[in-house]
Amino acid sequence: AAITLADLQSDVRLREAVNAYCTQIVPVYELKWRTLRPDAHTFAFEKADALLDFARQNRLTMRGHNLVWYADLPEWTAQIKDARSAERALRDHIATVVSYYRDKLTSWDVVNEAIPEFPKRPTERRDSLWLSCLGSDYLRMAFGAAADADPHVQLTLNEYDIESVGERFAARRAALRNLVSDLLDTGTPLHAIGLQSHLHGEIEIDTDGLAKCVAEFRSWGLDVIVTELDVDDQKLPGPVTERDAIVAKRVNDVLAAISSEATLRSILTWGISDRYSWINQMFPRADGLPNRTLPLDAGFRPKSFMDVIAKFTREAV
Ligand code: XIL
Repeated sequence: AAITLADLQSDVRLREAVNAYCTQIVPVYELKWRTLRPDAHTFAFEKADALLDFARQNRLTMRGHNLVWYADLPEWTAQIKDARSAERALRDHIATVVSYYRDKLTSWDVVNEAIPEFPKRPTERRDSLWLSCLGSDYLRMAFGAAADADPHVQLTLNEYDIESVGERFAARRAALRNLVSDLLDTGTPLHAIGLQSHLHGEIEIDTDGLAKCVAEFRSWGLDVIVTELDVDDQKLPGPVTERDAIVAKRVNDVLAAISSEATLRSILTWGISDRYSWINQMFPRADGLPNRTLPLDAGFRPKSFMDVIAKFTREAV
């Protein structure tokens, strides 16, 4: 599960839940630029280190999220306006952070969310500081720098809204396919595709489209992992039994599609208890009922979501 240091420190039930159910964690904020980089010369590793200590004390592994993203950049990065300073900042960040955690993390999201929200063409890349200063070369640069700094860690390209039925999702799969094939053609050290799997409760999973896309990535030698699973239940019916059943079905369908032809080795949920979910802030329900997006409810009781996860993790063992 993804966790924040603040929640972990303030709630013993969260610590117990992570210990009872999880084998790995990923920091929600603590490895993002905004936390790690108060200014252009400083690296503030304390919070991420505290999470790594917690992981090690409890025999959990930790993933890294993330090195390059269009979002959550600290204000000082607005000073970066040309290719030279962008390349310097990107290389400095990746070299320093990835070598600091060398051999300590299992996997890194090297680039997060690199394709546009609504791609008009598969060749389109998402607008960002990095794209505007460096063009799409920034992706190859980032993966290369990460591989130089830690030759053992799994290097991942992480993407959202790949999983569901509809034109927009199909266009996003096509854009991701184009990007991945481009990176591999140019010899980029890319090892895995992360499917965030922030699912939409009201939209079915495109099991065929997704299984095909995943099979193709695997045929190219890539691993496919689930990195941020949760279900936005904002538009689902209110009654809890009905709502939980739809949430569990979306989770089941996405995990079944991804594991239809090969073992799914890594599933991370974006939080573990409904008490601590970004969906509460981002997608609250109009009827005021609490969201039910994660494997445990706000009182840390397991829901059918947890049974589905248990089924797939048993199959993988
Ligand atoms: C989210 C956090 O959970 C929020 O609290 C924050 O306000 C924004 O970022 N995709 C990602 C994650 O890759 O980093 C995002 O995390 C959720 C969407």
